[in-house]
Amino acid sequence: MKGLFITFEGIEGCGKSTQAELLADYFRQQGREVLLTREPGGPKISESIRNILLNRDNREMLPETELLLYMASRSQHTGEWIIPALNRGEVVISDRYYDSSLAYQGAARQITREIIDPIVTYATFGLIPWRTILIDLPAARGLARIKAEEADRLESESLEFHEKVRQAYLQLAESETKRYIIIDGNRSIEEIHKDLIYKINEALKVVANET
Ligand code: ADP
Ligand code: TYD
Repeated sequence: MKGLFITFEGIEGCGKSTQAELLADYFRQQGREVLLTREPGGPKISESIRNILLNRDNREMLPETELLLYMASRSQHTGEWIIPALNRGEVVISDRYYDSSLAYQGAARQITREIIDPIVTYATFGLIPWRTILIDLPAARGLARIKAEEADRLESESLEFHEKVRQAYLQLAESETKRYIIIDGNRSIEEIHKDLIYKINEALKVVANET
């Protein structure tokens, strides 16, 4: 695959969408074609599944259903959008990907990796991001940025739930130090963006030296 696949992860309100957009602009200024997308979501079918997942009225949703719907949204997204864009040589930036399932459905909802891992491989056609950017922020700080009345089904979970998600991300990052780039989210938007560009360019240099 000729393209570059970068994903953003972190708790709600950590600044993923803001930074994903800035990174997309950066690559566009370099003359690259960029697909900026998000999970759950992307193509029409995945956006329909997103509506079911985030609807606050769906309080009775079981963890099993939740896991499979995220994965269903992901397989359509990966197969219909991400893989074709990478084959065309584009930069694909996704606001969340399968690490979100490991952190939310795995660590926070306590579904074992034994169950999740094979479904991840199936739903993603085995596609692993080139780099995953974790914007780390205490859960309370992230949630404070989201207005309570606008909170969706997942955002309405407890602070403890979101703190578990944060810790799970930090553990994932520790277990895959090459793929993960950890960024301190407790700074200004501009400072974070600069740090991110520096780290991405360092990673690109490693690729250039390897080829
Ligand atoms: P996420 O996609 O991780 O939920 P967003 O990028 O949508 O987060 O940011 C959530 C809110 O916080 C937005 O109102 C955004 O403008 C603001 N925000 C993003 N980054 C920062 C930052 N570094 N400092 C302060 N506010 C921020
Ligand atoms: P969204 O508003 O897109 O995210 P954010 O708040 O980061 O901008 O909502 C997506 C929600 O879905 C968020 O609470 C995280 C959750 N989620 C999972 O639980 N599992 C997953 O696999 C994915 C992709 C998201």
